[in-house]
Amino acid sequence: MTRIFSGIKPTGHLTLGNYLGALRRWADEDQHRAESLFCVVDLHALTVEHDPARVRRLSRQAATLLLAAGLDPATCTVFVQSHVDEHARLSYVLECVATDGEMRRMIQYKEKSARAQVAGQSVRLSLLTYPALMAADILAYGADEVPVGEDQTQHVELTRDLAVRFNQRYGRTFVVPRATRPAVAARVMDLQDPLDKMGKSHEATGGIVYLLDEPDAVARKVRRAVTDSEPGVSYDRAARPGVANLLEILAACTGEEPEKLADAYDGSGALKAAVAEAVVELLRPLRARHAELSADPEYVDGVLRDGAARARTLARPRVDAAYAAIGLLPA
Ligand code: TRP
Repeated sequence: MTRIFSGIKPTGHLTLGNYLGALRRWADEDQHRAESLFCVVDLHALTVEHDPARVRRLSRQAATLLLAAGLDPATCTVFVQSHVDEHARLSYVLECVATDGEMRRMIQYKEKSARAQVAGQSVRLSLLTYPALMAADILAYGADEVPVGEDQTQHVELTRDLAVRFNQRYGRTFVVPRATRPAVAARVMDLQDPLDKMGKSHEATGGIVYLLDEPDAVARKVRRAVTDSEPGVSYDRAARPGVANLLEILAACTGEEPEKLADAYDGSGALKAAVAEAVVELLRPLRARHAELSADPEYVDGVLRDGAARARTLARPRVDAAYAAIGLLPA
């Protein structure tokens, strides 16, 4: 059976973009068609300046939201990365397979290290080695498919290179995974800056809808979304990015086509009202389920404990095999 691994980094509150672009598909499709592991990758949250209490809080919240979004612990494995030692164990071995040059070529490293320097912060070494840890996340489980956004495809390519290189040098150990993206990617853009994606780690601009926003806040953010001064509603990504984003969000909520929806509205006011209502309704059950789960932290802890135990069982033999293949004396 196909195996899927994906991870979500607890560096911010999860957004509508995370839900429409990833979580919804994990819950509605991926977990049912493949043996799936979904991981809150907390170790990755330590690669930039962080607040320990916030990372802890966001990790728990992300795990709770994964369950609230419909990931079913009876169907897939939901766990926290730092609960399974195999990730760090394998990451070190992959650092011994990767080169300094290939790590420095990663776009995310270049961008984030430049940003840290501008802010007068030092660049953590783990920011450079991050792709080795991400590769370990994927390779430890023999995952075939890695559903990720476009910004992560370079890291998955590197993961493939490391898997192939390891297998050639030390004997066949790893499955060579591939990045997958849904055919119709719901790429939600920032409501205040429709050329930029609605990312959880971005500055709060008022253009980001968080999954746990109150309905009033959702409506307010949608109402204030940047559009343009052209009259009427038409779907044109290049010329009218703000309106197009609203149409795409509505399309993702209703299952209709953005072009068709454009015909149904006379002006951006009516369109915004429809988007606000659709998003509030989409998030209503998720918020309700999140509230229930938050009231029962022992249940969530139990799910994560079981998930980590299952993940460990899956990862351990392959990581042991990699240790043996690379020349480490069996314990
Ligand atoms: N790097 C990913 C991100 O920033 C998160 C991640 C870590 C991940 N390990 C992974 C995604 C393994 C897929 C598979 O979004």
